[in-house]
Amino acid sequence: MSRVFNFSAGPAALPLEVLETAKAELTDWQGTGMSVMEVSHRSKPFVAVAEQAEADLRELMGVSDDYAVMFLQGGATQQFALIPMNLAADGQTVDQLVTGSWSKKALKQGQAVRTVNLVADGADSNYTDVPARDSWNLTDDAAYFHYCGNETIGGVELHDVPDVGNVPVVCDMSSTILSRPIDVDKFGMIYAGAQKNIGPAGLTIVIVRKDLIASGGAGLPDILKYSTQADAGSMSNTPPTFAWYMAGLVFDWIKRNGGLAAMGEQNSAKAAKLYAAIDSSDFYANPVAIEHRSWMNIPFTLANADLDALFLEQSAAAGMTNLKGHRSVGGMRASIYNAVPMEAIDALIAFMEEFERTNG
Ligand SMILES: Cc1ncc(COP(=O)(O)O)c(C=O)c1O
Repeated sequence: MSRVFNFSAGPAALPLEVLETAKAELTDWQGTGMSVMEVSHRSKPFVAVAEQAEADLRELMGVSDDYAVMFLQGGATQQFALIPMNLAADGQTVDQLVTGSWSKKALKQGQAVRTVNLVADGADSNYTDVPARDSWNLTDDAAYFHYCGNETIGGVELHDVPDVGNVPVVCDMSSTILSRPIDVDKFGMIYAGAQKNIGPAGLTIVIVRKDLIASGGAGLPDILKYSTQADAGSMSNTPPTFAWYMAGLVFDWIKRNGGLAAMGEQNSAKAAKLYAAIDSSDFYANPVAIEHRSWMNIPFTLANADLDALFLEQSAAAGMTNLKGHRSVGGMRASIYNAVPMEAIDALIAFMEEFERTNG
């Protein structure tokens, strides 16, 4: 079977070139006679891979020495809990913005361990819009301000980093990291599950200002403290070596393909094309406020939901998979991360037009 156009929200499409490299190296990696999965994380060849991956990520994103970069496990979900435990002291208030399912989950975990101030909640728009900035209820001396850069399920994105004064900004960037250039210096912390734009599942990237973690996490077991993993080069325990290696291959692929500026141009063009196709039709609709539409996850509904199953069946037969929307939203969702090429968008639009012509 040939490769399909994979619109999965995550784990998601990876660049074919990266997969081919991994395949070629699988049973005899760098002349070791072993796969990369079979060597010690402390061996010289693996440490070289780990260090190169970190250096490439720093170069791609422009991460200065003021920040620690960590390759961890536990997913973005574990970060929902580790962030309040590490970046806020007992009794300190944490500010959290809710714009959809993921920031809501983060809120719940924050509330489990710290005093949380809900800055604003997009519930009134059924999470199709971000509450206006002048309605936000911010805390002057909050330990940090947390938001989700892109709600993967609802397709709601904040395209600008919120200005919250001197309070450190913490962003769940799981579904937008590496999709365009960003100014890392505007953030106290960025974190992301890898399984969208970085590599396979099992790896979580944390980029955090060193001064924020220097004295945090008092009373926590060592393994839950950011400082432990930062000091140990993310090797306080055995890291997810294969996922780290794969991430390194993806970073290298992005570098060879024009870096984040090129990714940003392509992603913006891909999203614009698909939104234009949706908006030009009465048969398809996207509910999200235009200024907050995601570049990465584009949900859309059919005028007649009874046709959803047929749409999914026929699109799959035409070589396009994972278009089913999240169960909480329904309809369809096209996730179009870095590794999803413009040809996939063109194929999807052509299919959508033909489907509307025969069923509309
Ligand atoms: C924006 C966002 N945050 C958090 C998560 C949870 O990530 P994980 O499953 O790696 O814990 C996801 C998963 O898709 C996500 O899209």
